[in-house]
Amino acid sequence: MNESALIVLGVTGLLGLVSLLLPFARRVNLPYTVLLALLGVGLGALAVDADGAQSAAMSFFQSLRAFGLTDDGLLNLFLPPLLFAAGLNIDVRRLMDDFAPIVLLAVVAVVVCTLIVGVTLTAFSGHGLLVTLLIGAIIATTDTAAVVAIFRDIGAPRRLSILVEGESLFNDAAAIAIFAILTQLIMGASAPTPLDVAADLFLGLVGGAAVGFLLAQGSIYLMGMLRDAVLTQVTLTVSLAYVSYLACDALLGVSGVIAVVTAALVIGSGGRTMVSVEAWQSLKTTWAQLDFWSTSLIFVLAAMFVPDALAAAHPTDLAAILVLVLATLVARGVIVFGVMPLLSRLGMSQPLTGAYQTVLWWGALRGAVTVALALAAANDPALSEDSQRFVLVMSTGFVLFTLFVKAPTLRPLMRALALDQLSPKERLIRDRVIALSRAAVGERVARLADDIGIQAPGSENVIPDATPEAITASAAIETSAEERFELGLLTIATRESQLSYDLYDRGILDRRMVEIMRAQGGRILDGVKSSGVDGYRSAAETAVRPKNALHRALWIYRKTGFAQLLSAQLADRFEELLISGVMLRQLLDYNERQVAELVGRSTTSEIAGILAERIEATDRAREALELQYPAYAADLRSRYVDRIALDLEESEYRSRFEQSLISGEVFEALEGQRQAKRRALGNRPPMDLGLKLTQMLSKVPLFSSLDDAGLRNLARRLRPYFAVPSEAIIGEGEIGKQMYFIASGSVEVDRGGNRTTLNEGDFFGEMALLNDSPRNADVCCQGYCNLLSLSRNDFEQLVKQYPKMRADIAKTARQRTGLNPNASLGKQDA
Ligand code: CMP
Repeated sequence: MNESALIVLGVTGLLGLVSLLLPFARRVNLPYTVLLALLGVGLGALAVDADGAQSAAMSFFQSLRAFGLTDDGLLNLFLPPLLFAAGLNIDVRRLMDDFAPIVLLAVVAVVVCTLIVGVTLTAFSGHGLLVTLLIGAIIATTDTAAVVAIFRDIGAPRRLSILVEGESLFNDAAAIAIFAILTQLIMGASAPTPLDVAADLFLGLVGGAAVGFLLAQGSIYLMGMLRDAVLTQVTLTVSLAYVSYLACDALLGVSGVIAVVTAALVIGSGGRTMVSVEAWQSLKTTWAQLDFWSTSLIFVLAAMFVPDALAAAHPTDLAAILVLVLATLVARGVIVFGVMPLLSRLGMSQPLTGAYQTVLWWGALRGAVTVALALAAANDPALSEDSQRFVLVMSTGFVLFTLFVKAPTLRPLMRALALDQLSPKERLIRDRVIALSRAAVGERVARLADDIGIQAPGSENVIPDATPEAITASAAIETSAEERFELGLLTIATRESQLSYDLYDRGILDRRMVEIMRAQGGRILDGVKSSGVDGYRSAAETAVRPKNALHRALWIYRKTGFAQLLSAQLADRFEELLISGVMLRQLLDYNERQVAELVGRSTTSEIAGILAERIEATDRAREALELQYPAYAADLRSRYVDRIALDLEESEYRSRFEQSLISGEVFEALEGQRQAKRRALGNRPPMDLGLKLTQMLSKVPLFSSLDDAGLRNLARRLRPYFAVPSEAIIGEGEIGKQMYFIASGSVEVDRGGNRTTLNEGDFFGEMALLNDSPRNADVCCQGYCNLLSLSRNDFEQLVKQYPKMRADIAKTARQRTGLNPNASLGKQDA
């Protein structure tokens, strides 16, 4: 058999073998990677020749190398799918909520691990610092799949899982960046200054992110154009992962890892809405598949070396691994017990209980990325043979430790910490639900049994847990009003986080909005879970407040005049508020019908109170937008009404079809038409912020007497200014540097508690300019406002040219002064 046939046979045979492990891993409840490693070690041991001279594993691997799979080849082949799949699986919106702490945590954790491991190991083993630092970087990447799976099982706050998943995603990037720098240093590149390293790192990261972002946006655009070509769409993402990695790494010299991760995040958030549900499904399946193949192969390939490595291991290596284990535990301890509490004290992350901290500390397993890096380093010609061996033995030894010692002890640890038990609150919910369901189901079963003429089974057979004892016990559990309140809120919040899916299934929400609303529901649920009623309230308050992204877009608009981002954000906000209003009203209904049984009437009326407050706040925020953009509001509303109508149409057709009033063909034809109508409703229209200067000028009566030349002159001097509700424009006592004209919206003038509203077409801030006096009132926006600002300098030149304008403005100012209590006349007016 020739070499390439041997390799293909070897690789595919291995894949077949490892795939059988997956169902087995589920049965024995161990992470799949543990079994993979076991298999690899076993295969490696089998392959070691009796003489131990040249193992088959080695020759297989050597033939892989001959085939072109060099050290780089391994990373090039396996890293992109590992990283892309990880990025695709993360909930991008929730990730963005905590972006700063996550990145900070990831980078700090990698640096701390690299340093602590490097310094301890070099002191212990006598290997050079660069080599031990390299080991530190290699094992700094965490694999959180196991911990996150357990978190999911025990219903840990989602935000905690996102923090851990996000950390793992970005620490890969940070560790690989450090890895690359260290290998360069080892190759004997002249030692760069720390400043050079930092600059390199920064450029590499920003460059990688930019390339990843652009390529992903391009792919999304193409995917959108090829609406029905599922195979092409999926293939585009595969190509995107490899092209972004290799283009950055090999061609542009910026971070390929960051490029892949960014591309995956962009596809995960924006790509979803560009493809059909089926295409998204097959895209996810394909990536799960690629991830599985890469993880499996890389693990088995690496584990096959373990027997070789053990054969070559010195007795001191074992002690060194022990030191390494201790060093990483210390490093992780610094992060989990030092940095994380600090972040939560600064309000940047979820507060952690001691039990969760312990699990995060112990549960930092190492996975495929670590192994891939170790293999690459072990084949790096720049390292001496002894160093190669040391790196491989240490890294794989460490990975095996995390897999064989840490992973299997993780669940017992959770049990010991009582993390796997339902909290008393959750137990209460369970028991009540069982009791209620038993009553409802039992009744229906009895009726059904009656219909078909058999005797009804005892209802405890219908829901086995609902033994009479359990029910009596649940009734006997004493709950305080406070507990019931919290329980009810928990139920409502759980419902809220699912409601958006219902609306999506009915075609009322599009996928993008589902994501947004789901993330919002998740935050509220996390709020109740971690801090009860107060947590619910504060999460609900945050939900109606404008998002950070809106503030960022506003900032960008003000700095650069680029309004598209801002208008997209405002349109999002409008849609969110509209849907929130609908969902909250449904929750009110749900509270009335379902929650009352669970927690009692008096509690539900309290909950109804909170919901009513939320509805009011949401409506108020929405009306502020509606007031400013009535046409847009009407358009968006009518789209939603149309969607709801189409949803009703569907159930109408279906019921006729089910009653055999129409045939299958007719139903299909009607459905086809309906779908076409739904598609035609399409996406929302772009939002026009009305910030065009000419449009704004026409709103101010003061300017109506100007001729064309005058208007042009004016247009050059005026600056549009977009202001948000409650924004303070002028503060009493300040020095006045400009005056404002209101092109739309309204402001409130507050002079010592004496309040006046100024509307579209009015102006303010003129007095300080006319009288050369400090501002005599506070001026604050009431809703969204489009203002025109005129600087003092331009004001003076303008009124010199147009004395009538000055007279008009001064006249208004005099009237206002007259209205103001204790008005002191300025020198101009005297
Ligand atoms: P200025 O003093 O520059 O800053 C505060 C502004 O509030 C002031 O200019 C006027 O434009 C406005 N203002 C003060 N008093 C009144 C009033 N009674 N009615 C309307 N606007 C007023």
